[in-house]
Amino acid sequence: MIKVAFYDTKEYDKSSFERYGSLHDMQFRFLETKLNEDTAELAKGCDVVCVFVNDIVNSAVIKKLYEFGVKLIALRCAGYNNVDVQAAFGKIHVVHVPAYSPYAVAEHAIALLLTSVRRIHKAYNRTREFNFSLNGLTGFDFHGKTVGVIGTGKIGRIFIDICRGFGMHVVAYDRFPPKDSDIEYVSLDELFERSDIISLHCPLTDETRHMIGADAISKMKKGVVIVNTSRGGLIDAEALLEGIKTRKIGAACLDVYEEEADIFFEDRSGHILDDDLLSRLISMPNVIVTSHQAFLTEDALNNIAETTVNNILSYFENDGICDNELCYRCGNIERCKKERKERCF
Ligand code: NAI
Repeated sequence: MIKVAFYDTKEYDKSSFERYGSLHDMQFRFLETKLNEDTAELAKGCDVVCVFVNDIVNSAVIKKLYEFGVKLIALRCAGYNNVDVQAAFGKIHVVHVPAYSPYAVAEHAIALLLTSVRRIHKAYNRTREFNFSLNGLTGFDFHGKTVGVIGTGKIGRIFIDICRGFGMHVVAYDRFPPKDSDIEYVSLDELFERSDIISLHCPLTDETRHMIGADAISKMKKGVVIVNTSRGGLIDAEALLEGIKTRKIGAACLDVYEEEADIFFEDRSGHILDDDLLSRLISMPNVIVTSHQAFLTEDALNNIAETTVNNILSYFENDGICDNELCYRCGNIERCKKERKERCF
């Protein structure tokens, strides 16, 4: 029996994981708390910890888990910026779900964008109050506008296809652009200068942290709409707020926020929100915030549970070899053992 400590459990996780886990010899210990140095102990006696985007998996946590005999960290998400993969190397193997539904995220980015540009959120509230005035609801056509896409991986490319369906012109920036592609790649500066809409679809790394800051915003068109369904840390939220206050930024659609860890995913409606920056952003008429829900479709939840369970089985039943293993050497063809169909260490 493989025992899994499942951190940061939500009701919607339980049903899909119970369904797939029950098909195999796997037992889940569902924990509501997030993983951090204090809660690592709850994984004692488990072979695996299963974590999500806001669990803290730093070197101190990894050291504890290793001491407790945990063999595998199974991320039930794609991004792994919250895991110190270098600290885990040689101690605990790390697996993730590289893709569960890039459509879910790309479609949510479009949903936010349409809602914002066509003021659907405002119209919805107005008509519920029998206010049928159109004042202040003027949007703009997507057709003919230029959208700048940063990061053209799985999600970015689907987002581009949808934008092209609207008749938008697409320019893109990617640190590692593919050789043969029908996408017009430009420098970041050119993307900032030309885009009416900018959508972020690259990972959060040391290099991309605060890539949208005061300097970047100063290069953008007046009235630019910024969409972030990737990671909050890509945007310097103080600079974003300033850009909104000076009317440089026309609208912001945010599914992620740098300091979301202790706020998002929970009902805080009866509490005073301590985060003044987030409160101020939410109070803006041209900012829409969703609480990291871009992934949340039934299709994605099923894929997440199925792939995570298969990752765990693959590790325990296939001599530790799992296609979805991660380490800090992955991607470096010279040193990456996974490319040679071996375990990372
Ligand atoms: P992917 O790995 O397929 O694509 C990422 C792209 O970013 C790649 O083309 C890569 O070359 C590019 N990239 C890497 N470093 C870059 C840099 N410095 N500048 C510009 N581009 C760079 O990833 P995928 O599946 O498309 O996901 C993108 C991001 O979406 C993830 O990193 C994750 O943070 C976020 N995400 C958000 C979800 C949500 O619910 N809001 C759910 C799933 C993913």
